[in-house]
Amino acid sequence: MDSVGQRSPEKCFIYVTTPIYYPNDKPHLGHAYTTVLADIISRWFSLAGCNSYLLTGTDEHGAKLQREAEKRGMDPKDFVDQMAEVFKEYWKMLGIGYNRFIRTTEQEHEEVVRYVISKLWDKGYIYSGKYRGWYCTACEKFYSEGEYVVENDVVMCPIHRRVLEFIEEDTYFLKLSLFKDYVLRILREGNIVYPKHYSDEVATKIEIEGLQDLSIARPKTRVSWGIELPFDNRYVVYVWIDALLNYLTGLGYPRNTDRIEQYWRSSVQLIGKDILWFHTAIWFTILAMLDLPPPKKLLVHSYLTIKGQKMGKSLGNVVSIDEMVKRYGNPEVVRFIIARIANYDKDVEVSWDIYDSIYMGDLLNNYGNLVRRATTLAIKTLNGNAIRDLDEEFAKTVDKLKQQSIDYYNSLEVATAVKYTLDILHETNAYINRKEPWRTIKPNQTIYTVLESIRIASLLLHPIMPVTTSNILNSLGLDRIEHGLEQFKLGYIERYNVKEAPIPFKKIR
Ligand code: MSP
Repeated sequence: MDSVGQRSPEKCFIYVTTPIYYPNDKPHLGHAYTTVLADIISRWFSLAGCNSYLLTGTDEHGAKLQREAEKRGMDPKDFVDQMAEVFKEYWKMLGIGYNRFIRTTEQEHEEVVRYVISKLWDKGYIYSGKYRGWYCTACEKFYSEGEYVVENDVVMCPIHRRVLEFIEEDTYFLKLSLFKDYVLRILREGNIVYPKHYSDEVATKIEIEGLQDLSIARPKTRVSWGIELPFDNRYVVYVWIDALLNYLTGLGYPRNTDRIEQYWRSSVQLIGKDILWFHTAIWFTILAMLDLPPPKKLLVHSYLTIKGQKMGKSLGNVVSIDEMVKRYGNPEVVRFIIARIANYDKDVEVSWDIYDSIYMGDLLNNYGNLVRRATTLAIKTLNGNAIRDLDEEFAKTVDKLKQQSIDYYNSLEVATAVKYTLDILHETNAYINRKEPWRTIKPNQTIYTVLESIRIASLLLHPIMPVTTSNILNSLGLDRIEHGLEQFKLGYIERYNVKEAPIPFKKIR
């Protein structure tokens, strides 16, 4: 994949978005998966010297939320107010440095939705008609024949395995069909959807089935919890149209033209593969109708699964974020594990055995042990003061791995970037063993080189574990992390003043 960020900071802008989550319950590990990855990407580009803007939030309208509030005997607004706070608390715990938390019930967003719908109406892209079809409230989506599954003559949702509702109603349609060729062209040639096979899947579906016009309104008699259609107050806007537009509200659309110009062109949108159709066929079309280009990248990841099934509240098989944080005693370990297991192509089965071995192998034994050994040695043999004297031969090895890690970060391949960083740490542990600096009278060169290597690895891990790595760098006497790639040069530090020998990760019981 081509790199996303551009080099010079004046020109380098990046807009990272997560899907906005249905706040019908607290977030689980599946939601954390997307959000943490997005945060890591945003933090990486910021560390590399770009202006990064991270948007996340909650998708608060629609039948799903309305029913959930009713079930609890609550007013929908009170319910989403309460739940949005819960999401914010979880993201705080996980160190998500979002620039804006958007809620679709915000006045600003509702105005944007009305503005866009009026614009599409004025442009003649909306017409009235009748809709009949099978609806899944959990997905907030109609399923056509071939898409739904039939079990014992009952029509079911292919994702949630729930019985679908048959709905027949007057509605308004958006003329997606007009944009069939455009969408196909960007899916096939645009180099936007990553990994590419997701793009091809959607393109093939459109080639076979065509691109049907989309029902974008719901009669208030069925769903009242939504934004009123500006030209017919008997209807509310279909929740998915409302939700997709959050990405524009997030940039101050339509007023803040500078921000839109700077950020939209270098946007990286993260989604799970479950919402691929909405973010391609529908989203690309709406953007085109508004004379906006598609995002720069749509980064699609696969599912976290339990016994092969997508983890989710509807299936009742969720791993709680709290449980995982408690197990490792540090929320940043959750972030690290997510970065390590991230897979865009294949589903990843949740496994405590694997998580424990990542913790023990990568953090405790590899990173943590190296930090402890190197700082102890520096204090014992050099009184903490290591002066610039790089072992050029070993530095070459580190430099190569570092470059790979940077390249993979720039290509949004977080898990591979981490793998190369871990290789730096492995190589450095082996280097100490080989060099045995405790046996020489002049250990400065080896120790300086090892500290440089730890510094580089810590910088590379900084987007993943911001607090832990800052503390480690601090113990080396470095209390400021800069923005830009200059600091990634080996030999950049003139003198280390190691203050303490930390044990950054504790054994788990
Ligand atoms: N509200 C919509 C999105 C609107 S975006 C304009 C929605 N919300 S959701 O809460 O159901 O889920 C959103 C996202 O959570 C998924 O696309 C995915 O990124 C993430 N995940 C939820 N469960 C997951 C797994 N089990 N595995 C991986 N990602 C998961 O859809």
